[in-house]
Amino acid sequence: MAQRTVQEYGAFARDIGQILYTEEQIQQRVRELGVQISADYEGKNPLLVGVLKGVLFFLADLLRAMTIPLEVDFIAVSSFSPQTRQQGYVRMIKDLDIPIGGRHVIFVEDVIDTGLTLNYILRTLRVHKPASLEVCTLFDKPAKRLIDAPVKYKGFDLPDQYVVGYGLDYREKYRNLPFVGLLAAHAFKDAAQEERSG
Ligand code: IMP
Ligand code: MG
Repeated sequence: MAQRTVQEYGAFARDIGQILYTEEQIQQRVRELGVQISADYEGKNPLLVGVLKGVLFFLADLLRAMTIPLEVDFIAVSSFSPQTRQQGYVRMIKDLDIPIGGRHVIFVEDVIDTGLTLNYILRTLRVHKPASLEVCTLFDKPAKRLIDAPVKYKGFDLPDQYVVGYGLDYREKYRNLPFVGLLAAHAFKDAAQEERSG
């Protein structure tokens, strides 16, 4: 399939200042991760746990790149962004449906920034005593890490800048772009203006 371009997405995609990873690069890396994790978890029937909503796109592609039997479940958390200065305040708003005790669990994230969200989720999951617990993240922003994040599988590193696309949003927008890029300054400004005018 031919790669989709910014032009095909109309006005809202022009808010992307610079593409960091193309659709092709992302798909290629996700397939590699799927092959690697399948080999590591052969015969273990792993349970992949994703956190809504940003991970949806990555998880869907990763699952289809995996070639072993597996199960999938979701949690949802609410966390305040670092900008609100209430770092680390994370709350579970949707718990697991499948019991994870004794299971080989792979926690799948879209992006790890400070690591505070991950830290909270891992602590919560460990209470249920999984047989093993590893972390797979598509993107890692190591620059602003406040707490150690034990990442076993990683797609790409990101600079310390706000990115959107492939599941990642800015105020719920841009998730459906198949590539990942930096949001142009005017898009932040437009959003601030909309807020002021209600
Ligand atoms: P942390 O607790 O600081 O590691 O925050 C991680 C969460 O913040 C991620 O799961 C995302 O939901 C969100 N996040 C961090 N950086 C970005 C970004 O550049 N774009 C979109 N969401 C982000
Ligand atoms: Mg997330």
